[in-house]
Amino acid sequence: MFKRHRRLRMNASVRSLVEETKLHVDDLMYPLFVVEGEGVRHEIGSMPGVFQLSLDEILKECEEVVSLGIKSIILFGVPEVKDSIGSDALCDMGIIAKSVRAIKEKFPLLHVSTDLCFCEYTDHGHCGILDIKNQSVNNDATLEILCSQALIHARAGADMIAPSGMMDGTIKALRDALDKNGFENLPIMAYSTKFASAYYGPFRDVAQSAPSFGDRKTYQMNPANRREAISESLEDEAQGADILMVKPALAYLDIVREIKESSLLPLAVYNVSGEYALLKAGQKAGIIDYERVLMETMISFKRAGADIIISYHSKEVAKILKYEKN
Ligand code: PBG
Ligand code: ZN
Repeated sequence: MFKRHRRLRMNASVRSLVEETKLHVDDLMYPLFVVEGEGVRHEIGSMPGVFQLSLDEILKECEEVVSLGIKSIILFGVPEVKDSIGSDALCDMGIIAKSVRAIKEKFPLLHVSTDLCFCEYTDHGHCGILDIKNQSVNNDATLEILCSQALIHARAGADMIAPSGMMDGTIKALRDALDKNGFENLPIMAYSTKFASAYYGPFRDVAQSAPSFGDRKTYQMNPANRREAISESLEDEAQGADILMVKPALAYLDIVREIKESSLLPLAVYNVSGEYALLKAGQKAGIIDYERVLMETMISFKRAGADIIISYHSKEVAKILKYEKN
């Protein structure tokens, strides 16, 4: 009588039958960083396997992504010229607009999301326009240029936009702008609960987006605040977000679970650069069984309630899933 559950765990085929959480290649979204130039494939020191790629190389990468069965990518632009307002992001010939057009032309079925923010485009590295005293970001002025950026991405053919800057009122402003311009059906994945985290360190090397002064604590969230974390996501839902997100992932699985239970929207987690770098360093040092740790980490995201996993590990995970099936 009391051994019932143990028996269910013992037989391998029954084990998979009663397994509660499954990871699938469809859950994965793969981040890519595009830079100007040709033939550029620049590996990031702290993130082995992650590259800054020029557009020709991005297209090769998409080929591989598609062949692995991954159906969705999220694009980050790293422009050559940065200035105080992030002009490259506001221009039809800017790095992201060019890239989205080229990718969608060659891979119409690949789902392309774009990161919507200004820290990759501004010379000061903050997520928006600065106020007059140049001390912090001007929320409402930033909303205006975010809407322009969103329309540029939409016109270039992006399948989804993902605002990551945490300005107040972002989702409503974007939704209104998209709807007014004929993009009623373009979904918004909100970086709805985004903590001011040291886990973004390596990303700022890739995107060359470290703030030149101060930090992002005025607009990103305090890791100590659980209730505030939930309410930020619910606020984005109320403003019209289509998908919510928790970022980073691993240190915030309690938040993932709670948002999942507080909202009926699909939920993404961003398995960020620092989380990737740590596993990779562990692999390199030979101190962990890398593949097992990786897959255990992925399943923890799903078990916590994530529907979508944005991860630099996506290609590796897709390969492992493919291999396991055969
Ligand atoms: C831009 C943005 C960041 C990340 C995604 N979009 C950096 C930041 O907020 O500093 C981080 C992703 C990662 O660390 O992998 N706002
Ligand atoms: Zn930003």
